Amino acid sequence: MRNIRIFDTTLRDGEQSPGASMNTSEKLQVAKQLARLGVDIIEAGFAIASPDDFNAIKTIGGEVEGPVICSLARAREEDIKRAWEALEDAPNKRIHTFHSTSDIHLKFQYRIDRDEALKRSVKMVQLAKSYVEDVEFSPMDATRTDIGYLCEVIEAVIEAGAITVNIPDTVGYTIPNEFGTLIKSIRDRVKNIDNAVIAVHCHNDLGLATSNSLSAVLNGAGQIECTINGIGERAGNCAMEEVVMALRTRKDLFNADTNIVTEEITRSSRLVSTITGMTVQPNKAIVGANAFAHESGIHQDGLLKNKSTYEIITPETIGLHKTQFVLGKHSGRNAFRTRLSELGYDLTNDEINNAFVRFKKIADQKKDIFDEDIEALVNEEVTMVTETFSLVDMNFSSGTDKQPVATVKIKIGSEIVEKTEQGDGPVDAIFKAITTITGTKSKLLKYEVKAITGGTDALGEVICSLEEDDTSVSGHGADTDIMTASAKAYINALNKLAARKS
Ligand code: KIV
Ligand code: ZN
Repeated sequence: MRNIRIFDTTLRDGEQSPGASMNTSEKLQVAKQLARLGVDIIEAGFAIASPDDFNAIKTIGGEVEGPVICSLARAREEDIKRAWEALEDAPNKRIHTFHSTSDIHLKFQYRIDRDEALKRSVKMVQLAKSYVEDVEFSPMDATRTDIGYLCEVIEAVIEAGAITVNIPDTVGYTIPNEFGTLIKSIRDRVKNIDNAVIAVHCHNDLGLATSNSLSAVLNGAGQIECTINGIGERAGNCAMEEVVMALRTRKDLFNADTNIVTEEITRSSRLVSTITGMTVQPNKAIVGANAFAHESGIHQDGLLKNKSTYEIITPETIGLHKTQFVLGKHSGRNAFRTRLSELGYDLTNDEINNAFVRFKKIADQKKDIFDEDIEALVNEEVTMVTETFSLVDMNFSSGTDKQPVATVKIKIGSEIVEKTEQGDGPVDAIFKAITTITGTKSKLLKYEVKAITGGTDALGEVICSLEEDDTSVSGHGADTDIMTASAKAYINALNKLAARKS
């Protein structure tokens, strides 16, 4: 059985999804969860891209144990040096450097010829190798690169010290059969290929990222680059949960498996969705809300007789458990802490205490607290940033024949500011009052509300995405009152924008 390495790029390529940007503390939470999930390599960011990226890589490298921590770097001296500086504290580190190799990119974007691209690639792999043993090279736009030249570049970078060569389908152009043949040709034609692991990095523009990655595995690839929920540039990347569960479910066919602890998949998916504000479509394979919902009478009949009739994966395999009543109004801090650790959360005392205060408040309003409610509370806690603005109080009124009006009080420093505004609906009125108080110029990109569990007393979860000066952030709020959840989500997003500016 071959072991396929999982290289997770949620924090780098995934973060390139519009609106999915994460701050350092959010990235750290995701990285810790990726470590629990058992990924082999975490691409924690692109060190030279921004001070935020640099800090996130440095923090993750210093705090997350287990996986190799990696930084992306263009094939440029300053990028590689910066990647090294960011990775210095990581016990296991990798520099991933890349250069385009397709004629389209070389002619129109780089304006250099093939020889020059090859020289730069080799030189920068050598430079990266002078800093770290573990160097990965990607010939960007590989699937639109002349195969002879691609093999020449691969051979040269392996000679220069790359121990992983990644074949990116940068624009999501290839199809499974063609991609499998490409991987096989590389294995047949590159003399020193046995000195490196072949990785693949597939984008999903034609909806084929997972299929292409699996076809590559069948043809000898030993590393898959992927993201949680398939987030990433444009249509996204290969979805980790899909490729991992395909390998696990069809081990018989692939004769390959990964180190992934599949029971951590659901929690990873929910955490990334909450933090990035990118909701998962209900019919998404493996992690969609309907992935295990059987509607047809014939299917239900078969399932009742024997699960294997219509179920190829059990929900438990991916850590999806039936909603169960766990805690209530009379539960104490210890029960809360114990349940958190049973759910796999590793929080500081302060985080537990803050989440417990909110738990008690919710328990006063809602009789039964389910695991999903606890997850929402904790996710709210981990997406918190320093509060430039904090909600003190809020009132609103609206009705069938009444203009909605909201009064909001917000604490800014030591001052409490109150404003009343009218709106097209109660949420609009609340957001207008918050906008007036905070003086924000941000644009509302997305407002989404969902009930976490069933029942009219369910906890409502709101995700609110804002954009200002080309920076977009997602705020998160949970409350039994969806208007309060909305205000919290909006204020959380404003706090994140403020934190970025400071
Ligand atoms: O899609 C791509 O080609 C990339 C590279 C940097 C590997 O993300
Ligand atoms: Zn990519």
